[in-house]
Amino acid sequence: MRNSPTLYVAFLSMVLLFGPSHELPPFWPATTVTMTNNLGGPLLTVHCKSKENDLGVHMVAANTDYHFTFQPNIWKSTLFFCSFQWSNQVKHFDIFDAPRDQDDGYKLNWTIKPDGPCKLGKKVKCFPWK
Ligand SMILES: *[C@@H]1O[C@H](CO)[C@@H](O)[C@H](O)[C@H]1NC(C)=O
Repeated sequence: MRNSPTLYVAFLSMVLLFGPSHELPPFWPATTVTMTNNLGGPLLTVHCKSKENDLGVHMVAANTDYHFTFQPNIWKSTLFFCSFQWSNQVKHFDIFDAPRDQDDGYKLNWTIKPDGPCKLGKKVKCFPWK
């Protein structure tokens, strides 16, 4: 029983399923970034990208949010950058920058205000636009 081929095949399948080439290893939780439109009225247009992914253009009504979920890499080099457009404004910000954000948990909440984005948490931290 100890060298059962069935067990060996099961083990091999696990390695193939969850091996290093798999994009979503189950032992590394996904991160969700949420952005709430707190501009005070205007419709917000958000467009986020990473080097590999274009998350598309999203319209965010006042006081509603847009969020996306992804798998940060273990090398702390994951970066998502976004454009924010409303009225006649176009702004940019790195909404997920691993060295800054990766140790702050798996649910990151941002409020988007005219002066810049603020990261919510025990302490609210506001940033200027890029
Ligand atoms: C972000 O919002 C979610 C959902 O409301 C909440 O569960 C989470 O604790 C929040 N995280 C922070 C850092 O505020």
